[in-house]
Amino acid sequence: MKLFRTDLQKAGPPADISVPRKKHMMCLNESVLDPYQAIDEAFNQTMQHIHLNRYFSQVTSELKRALVDYVGHNVTSENILWGNGADDMLFACFLAVREDNDSFVLTHAPSYFDYSTYSRAAGLNIRYQNFNPDFSFDEKEYLDILNSKDCRLGVLCNPNNPTGHLLDDAQIRYILDNTQKPVLIDETYYEFSQRTYIDLIKQYPNLIVVRSFSKSFSAAGLRFGYLVSAAENVNEIRKVQTIFNTSIMVQAFVLTMLMNKNLFLEHVKKTIDLKEQLYQRINKIENLKTWKTHTNFLTFSVGEKSADLFEFLKSKDIAIRDVGAHPILHNHLRVSIGSAEQNNCFAAAIEEFLLKR
Ligand SMILES: Cc1ncc(COP(=O)(O)O)c(C=O)c1O
Repeated sequence: MKLFRTDLQKAGPPADISVPRKKHMMCLNESVLDPYQAIDEAFNQTMQHIHLNRYFSQVTSELKRALVDYVGHNVTSENILWGNGADDMLFACFLAVREDNDSFVLTHAPSYFDYSTYSRAAGLNIRYQNFNPDFSFDEKEYLDILNSKDCRLGVLCNPNNPTGHLLDDAQIRYILDNTQKPVLIDETYYEFSQRTYIDLIKQYPNLIVVRSFSKSFSAAGLRFGYLVSAAENVNEIRKVQTIFNTSIMVQAFVLTMLMNKNLFLEHVKKTIDLKEQLYQRINKIENLKTWKTHTNFLTFSVGEKSADLFEFLKSKDIAIRDVGAHPILHNHLRVSIGSAEQNNCFAAAIEEFLLKR
């Protein structure tokens, strides 16, 4: 007897989430700033007024006000829904749009790997439109697929992971102007790119913007993300969430982070400066190809030697990410921006590796 959904059984083993544990973890686009170390006293202060024996807390309305204020663009608390990271918001959207076994979500390739993990978990198929080698795409073709009968949602990752590029603004607007299907813009790296579409949620009732606290607020382990959309959409998507989805303690921590937001936003600026320095340094290396990104990572290639470089870096206690699965990123690697010292170790290791070969 089959215990679980047929499509889950067909999907094969669960996603492999093992990562090498190295001294320099530069593989998951995490921050080097530990938010708890940064605001522990303020957090402990916030917790004085919070009772974890209760399901409900006044911290929820305080956080709503603080987040509305942070997001700006005249959004109200009815426009916001939060959960356990951007991943959780993606999953909620996928669950909320699925109609039947033919339903699918459309996204680009290469893009964020876990769109496929969560769409499949929600019982949705996934279709990809490939980026061209220069990361451009044909917006008319994208629209044709998006407007086809079984497509339930278009996802645009902006800036895109793992390429780090921003999609063309005119193309995004063209898509929004020519569809009534839900369009989700994933702005997980917003604070690094400073490009947002939240100001358009009033104009486009089908637009959903997803954001994260994992990157700019340095809180990957905390698990907090949110979406912004028309109140009607928020009400529908809310129906697939468990009621006490986000722990009161997490809400209290996020509230405290927002009360100290400059500390985190300063760190974003510092990371952008460090990225620029690392870019300048590795871009000078002969036979290494890289480009400017709008995120907290750089993607690069040393051609056929990339796989050996990946192993060499591991031997130097540096973990980065192999993002070469898609043909246009064949032999490409991705490094998250670390501390000045880590970036230096990383660049020096590449220089050493290339000198030897
Ligand atoms: C494009 C993109 N979307 C979503 C996520 C998930 O973010 P979170 O940690 O908030 O779940 C990531 C994480 O790396 C990402 O790169």
